[in-house]
Amino acid sequence: MKAEKYRLIYRQAQSLLDGETDQIANMANISALLHREFGFWWTGFYRVCGDELVLGPFQGPVACTRIPFGKGVCGSSWQRAETIVVPDVEEFPGHIACSSESRSEIVVPVWQDGKIVAVLDIDSEHLATFDATDKHWLEQIVSLLPL
Ligand code: SME
Repeated sequence: MKAEKYRLIYRQAQSLLDGETDQIANMANISALLHREFGFWWTGFYRVCGDELVLGPFQGPVACTRIPFGKGVCGSSWQRAETIVVPDVEEFPGHIACSSESRSEIVVPVWQDGKIVAVLDIDSEHLATFDATDKHWLEQIVSLLPL
């Protein structure tokens, strides 16, 4: 069951991040953990740098490096300050196709001191991969990141 798998991954993430304050190292390990356990198409972070998102640690094929505020699913999640679940990327106006294999997507903001400092982006090559369970657990997992 997906929730049970997430529960285990959450515990693994807690111990991986315990005592480590380097955000890049932590983002790298979180992306590797989720990517390997679930076999997603692309799993990674974009960091807020000024008025853009810049590609951070990820697992999967090469991706676009910069995404403006409000653009694509990632920039929209940042703008709306909420998780966005996209069952079919072709139905999301302005979706940025870094890969034609990507069919569904979830983007989760990473908060620090009341501000969004990054987003976690996960892409699947299948339609409708992500639901409320993914949203809940991924929000919990990224909340482990800030110091
Ligand atoms: N599809 C994303 C862009 C990032 S890649 O999928 C890795 C978007 O629309 O924001």
